[in-house]
Amino acid sequence: MSDAVPAPKENMGQPVARIDGRAKVTGSARYAADFPLANVAHGYLLTSTIAKGRIAGFDLAAAQSVPGVINIYTHQNAPKLKEVKFFADGGYSATRIVPLNAPEIHHEGQIIGLVVAETYEAAREAAQRVVVSYSAQAPTPGFDHPGVKREEAADVSKRHEDPKVGDADTAFLDAPVQIDAAYETPTQHHNAIELYATSCAWDGDNLTVYEPSQFVNGLKHGLAEQLDIKPDRIRVLSPFVGGAFGSKASMTPRTGIVAAASRDIGRPVKLVVTRDQGFTTATYRAETRHRVQLAAASDGKLQALNHQGFEITSRTDAYLVGGVTTTTRLYDCPNVGSKVFVVRADRNTPGFMRSPPEVPYMFALETALDELAVKLNMDPVELRRKNDTQKEPIEGNPYTSRALMQCYDEAANDFGWLSRDPQPGSMTDGDWLVGFGCATACYPSQMDAAAARVRLSRDGHARVEIAVHDVGTGAYTVVAQAVAERLEIPVENVEAVIGDSDLPPGPVAGGSITTASACSVVLKACDQIRDRLSKAVVGAKPVPLEDQLKATVGMADQPTPNRNEPLPPLEEAFDKLGASMIEEYAEWKPEGAPPDAIRAMHKGQVRITGGPMSDKIAYAFGAEFLEVRINKYTREIRVPRIVGAFAAGRIVNPRTARSQLMGGMIWGIASALHESTEMDRAVARYVNDNLADYLVAVNADVGEVKVILVPEWDTDLNPAGVKGLGELGNVGTPAAISNAVYHATGKRLRKLPIRLEHLLETA
Ligand code: MOS
Repeated sequence: MSDAVPAPKENMGQPVARIDGRAKVTGSARYAADFPLANVAHGYLLTSTIAKGRIAGFDLAAAQSVPGVINIYTHQNAPKLKEVKFFADGGYSATRIVPLNAPEIHHEGQIIGLVVAETYEAAREAAQRVVVSYSAQAPTPGFDHPGVKREEAADVSKRHEDPKVGDADTAFLDAPVQIDAAYETPTQHHNAIELYATSCAWDGDNLTVYEPSQFVNGLKHGLAEQLDIKPDRIRVLSPFVGGAFGSKASMTPRTGIVAAASRDIGRPVKLVVTRDQGFTTATYRAETRHRVQLAAASDGKLQALNHQGFEITSRTDAYLVGGVTTTTRLYDCPNVGSKVFVVRADRNTPGFMRSPPEVPYMFALETALDELAVKLNMDPVELRRKNDTQKEPIEGNPYTSRALMQCYDEAANDFGWLSRDPQPGSMTDGDWLVGFGCATACYPSQMDAAAARVRLSRDGHARVEIAVHDVGTGAYTVVAQAVAERLEIPVENVEAVIGDSDLPPGPVAGGSITTASACSVVLKACDQIRDRLSKAVVGAKPVPLEDQLKATVGMADQPTPNRNEPLPPLEEAFDKLGASMIEEYAEWKPEGAPPDAIRAMHKGQVRITGGPMSDKIAYAFGAEFLEVRINKYTREIRVPRIVGAFAAGRIVNPRTARSQLMGGMIWGIASALHESTEMDRAVARYVNDNLADYLVAVNADVGEVKVILVPEWDTDLNPAGVKGLGELGNVGTPAAISNAVYHATGKRLRKLPIRLEHLLETA
């Protein structure tokens, strides 16, 4: 055991090494674009160079003369595709723009064509020779432009809520200590290492799609709708995903185009989208603005909290994160108000990006809390303790479990928080100003319906099949661990098969729901196997008449095998059964899920349940502490160390959990100090659309990162007791950094990213 391989504490599984680790590091793991396809043709996208207007025409002569060009598809000749609704409107699509359907341009970088050629090089050369004429209009790039259209989130989404309780406006004015400040977060792009790629191969009427996906079942059904064919005709394979972070969760326009082109030319087509094209043909995190008002009594007790959010979205789709759902429920406060607005501009539609609501909204709230602590002359940890609660303040619903202050205490102690001199600018080391900062991390604990098949052989080997996705998170490993634990066999004996839409449907790898959902259904299938084995040995109990009658009207109790009873010896039980293998299929839906959750699951639709959306509120929590060092002369900013303590129910695997949380905190450093997509506002075009100019944290930017796993039991949530933590680690980091920068310099920066030029400006 070591830092990287943490010893399990109470309610934690074994720190099993990733079972797919060897395949990944030796290069034998096949990512979407790695699958060899016979007679494959290569695609290259044509994308719009204007942000608003329409295509007047194409001159394709020079492009068509490039040797090897097979066809060039544009809206003038492409096979017609059906509109697939935006995912938030009950569809599958990342945007409702129908690919290659019309000459209208809705955003810069919109797909306007696909060149298909014998080689990638020929397709690229031809694409560069296409001459497009446009009739262009001046676009609206984003905030502070007269062309934006502002709408209330509640008017564009039935699901959106602006929580409120009491009278926040009056209470704010009446309280002795007030903070009223505006915060801003930038445009960011996921920039997963693996590029967006799609290969399509038809065999008669059957289509196989190779695409890195966080939701193979959703993609299968969405694509079937777009192509107007039966979903059973489509198989989506995504066994490995080289980073996704939300960007590979809903169907983007490229997939339908590649599938249609492949059918048209009667050959497999492979498309690997370039890094820069990925900025506009997939999704991103849009920039947000916030106004936060906090008011407290002089002892720090919150009296009023008001959070307004403003989020950029496209003209075509109302993508919305609405993080006030979280920020209004986090601390005890009698008077709470909130409102979210979407602000439409001529942009591609944004989408999920790791902890979509919490990252921007918690930056605003947790920075405001630090400001309040300063004004109260109070330790920011004590301010949070003063307002900690076990029930959320809006409806008064209890948290299923909440170990926030345990996280604060463990992380503060490990970090050495008490050695801090609270006076800004008071701590120095040579040429460096030293600042300490902290903030809360939280993420809703959610689940969705799932199905799984588990097969156990007489020799103690098992195979589990479930269409979940390993986006680098460790899904292969935790699914195998669930089987191994419940069937009492070594994890090496378990084969996990995932990432294939032909398998029993699993949930989207989004909302940090995979472990909770997959383990719950896998445990259920294993219990069915246990039940059969136990019955074989002890003999089936006769079923009382009353229970037989109940069964005929579908009211029989679910079999509940006694988990404390050890399994009978496998060989004996199998021999009594007269079988060499048992296979069980199970379906599971979370408590509180809508009645159609299982049906929706089979259609690739999402019915995520849990988090704030029930009469028990479920969140995972963490506390992050970090040190910044700012050079007195150059204002260079460094983060030498960061400590996070997290509680997330049962930890199935402390090694993969630590890795997720560590990666999240590192992402948080980048999110606070580096990441920002810059735009040429005159033409609404992203300019740093490459990994040279789009900055992310690299090794030299990251010092010591420590993860503390705080044991927690949650019996209210799901049979696995798991909360999920993939999107927890990066939530608190940006605010902790801005708070530490204030402590080091006395300068409060409310806009991300924080860069040295902001610290050089004279106030
Ligand atoms: Mo996560 S942004 O829900 O993939």
